[in-house]
Amino acid sequence: MTGFSSRVEQVSISGIREVFEAAGEDAINLGLGQPDFPTPENAKQAAIEAIQAGDSDGYTSNKGTLELREAIAGKHARDNDLDVDPENVIATAGGSEALHIALEAHVDQGQEVVFPDPGFVSYEALTHLAGGDPVPVELREDLTMDPAAVEDAITENTAAFVVNSPANPTGAVQSTEDMREFARIADEHDVLCISDEVYGRIVFEGEHRSPLEFAESDNVVVVDACSKTYSMTGWRLGWVTGSHERVERMLRVHQYCQACASAPAQYAAEAALSGPQDPVDEMVAAFEERRDVVLDGLEDMGLDVPTPQGAFYAMPRVPEGWVDEVIDRGVVVVPGEAFGANGAGHARISYATDMETLKEALAIMDEATEAVR
Ligand SMILES: Cc1ncc(COP(=O)(O)O)c(C=O)c1O
Repeated sequence: MTGFSSRVEQVSISGIREVFEAAGEDAINLGLGQPDFPTPENAKQAAIEAIQAGDSDGYTSNKGTLELREAIAGKHARDNDLDVDPENVIATAGGSEALHIALEAHVDQGQEVVFPDPGFVSYEALTHLAGGDPVPVELREDLTMDPAAVEDAITENTAAFVVNSPANPTGAVQSTEDMREFARIADEHDVLCISDEVYGRIVFEGEHRSPLEFAESDNVVVVDACSKTYSMTGWRLGWVTGSHERVERMLRVHQYCQACASAPAQYAAEAALSGPQDPVDEMVAAFEERRDVVLDGLEDMGLDVPTPQGAFYAMPRVPEGWVDEVIDRGVVVVPGEAFGANGAGHARISYATDMETLKEALAIMDEATEAVR
């Protein structure tokens, strides 16, 4: 019988699913990684019109329509003060595919990829699938990633390191100084920095800056998506940008595994990116209000929780048995170890749910905390 590749055998299905399945049907789900807001109306309408006019029936250019790539360049100019050439953008099937093609194009068999631990589950899995070796890096007390720790982890054999700010699962936002350092490390060590900025618009304190602003070499590629910013996780539309040479290599992977991003989603994304940004501002304001309530609630329980400054997650340190107790009482949260060995002793709480439900969940967590103390 044909066996399975050693690359795929190193990867398992995300532990997050198992948590959902273990919870009862009426459970309150604080495990979800997607906003609870509708996709903006103008984005939906643009897709409907494109479908009805037959504009989205065929393949688009491999990189995506020029209009979409111009809208993406416009977003980087507006939000990041970055001058991105639309020719250096590939529209992808979400940030997930963007991460995949970035790693496939840059990581050789046995090369190392450095990433945050706890960190988004795809970094380790996609490193294995690219034939690379994962090198998880422990975070600071405040759950940000220390550039010095990244620099220490870099060897002759390092192909890339991943920066994710604001971060999943921590909600931590890297400072401007850190981002400058990540750019310096990419330049000086001549390694690729993959900057995952899918939560870049969801920031409450401080400012989201990209290492791309500071790098002097072409050693930074940025991964972004409409998924979180415009509540478009189901549309599967993200992108990657970098130098012409890097984009040309990533395009080779994208061309053969994807051909092009879904055409209706490209029309929706173009409208979302170039239309009014009020839905984003309103969503971010709602997340900030909920963040405050969650933070107060967790602190009132006596839990230690670094203040999340972005995204829609909090990651408190929790006592032994807390996650199981909370899940048994009908609230789904994700155990920290689902995001790496250093996530143990933490839980990820997503507050992408309405305020009333959140308050109900906090009351249940309070009882669970009492029970395990
Ligand atoms: C940090 C991070 N990067 C990338 C992604 C992938 O997002 P997408 O749905 O656009 O593939 C996610 C999704 O949860 C994420 O949390």
